[in-house]
Amino acid sequence: MRASAAANANLAIVKYWGKRDERLILPMHGSISLTLRGLQTMTTVDFDAGLAQDEVRVNEEAVTGRVRLRVEHLLDLVRRMAGTGYHAAVTSENTFPTAAGLASSASAFAALALAASRAAGLRLDGPALSRLARQGSGSACRSVYDGFVEWVAGDAADGSDSFAVRLKPLEHWDLAVVIAIVATAEKTVSSSEGMRRSVDTSPFYAAWRGCAVDDLRAARQAIEDRDFSAFGELCEENALRMHATALAARPPVVYWTPGTLAVLRAVQALRQGGLEAYASMDAGANVHLLVQPESVDLLRAEISRLPEVSQVLVSGPGPGARLLGKA
Ligand code: PMV
Repeated sequence: MRASAAANANLAIVKYWGKRDERLILPMHGSISLTLRGLQTMTTVDFDAGLAQDEVRVNEEAVTGRVRLRVEHLLDLVRRMAGTGYHAAVTSENTFPTAAGLASSASAFAALALAASRAAGLRLDGPALSRLARQGSGSACRSVYDGFVEWVAGDAADGSDSFAVRLKPLEHWDLAVVIAIVATAEKTVSSSEGMRRSVDTSPFYAAWRGCAVDDLRAARQAIEDRDFSAFGELCEENALRMHATALAARPPVVYWTPGTLAVLRAVQALRQGGLEAYASMDAGANVHLLVQPESVDLLRAEISRLPEVSQVLVSGPGPGARLLGKA
């Protein structure tokens, strides 16, 4: 009862920000993302009758606290579906460049959902796998698929209609994503806490939700048309609106550092000079830059020059969750 799987991180273009159900992890609105090449988690799950409890190791270190509870919760869901009581040994490794501060719950829970379900003898279809990954971390439901992906919010109270669908495969559009690393420390406010505070206290939350719904329609169209300017502008505006909503919460949720602003300003200046690139930040300080492949080298050189930037990575559309072999 053992299986290994890999999955990749994703960059939210229209971001998920706010839950309507905390326990089932159901979103207030839909979201759209791009699965990212190279930023990968590989996970092995081994259900073993000899284990007295679940054992969870990430990058060779035993995991405790909140992350461990979330892993156990996902394993419990799989045990219930498969009708087994066995505990599991879970080992997981991120192939992200070390200390880049990009540890991703999306790649982690998508890989875990696939490895655990297969190890337990289940063969879940795409929607079922996405629903399972969602219950580990919302954004993970999108990392089940390659390329351009939409998480359809759904409205059923049990979450049965809340899962991701692939809009376009990764070959659809050869975009590049340049990632500027400006902070490697763990963020002080988790995305769950940031969302909760935004929903409960931000006076901008209703406006954010309305924008997100409009942005979904525009993003689908820009992807369909491969309209880079429309896609990039939308991506940057959506990110800034999400952060504005979080900043207005009580107490305020501030993910940015001086490095974030340095990159934002540099990108604006580069755009004025004719280099078309657009910025997006998730619940953290690092900045993802959307750019066309022919401009990657120039953008990378310009961004690397900023003293606040410790590392620059280049990615693009990447693969969905996949099995690495079942012993
Ligand atoms: O899946 P979570 O709980 O880590 O939330 C992700 C939130 C954002 O990255 C900010 C947005 C998104 O859609 O991925």
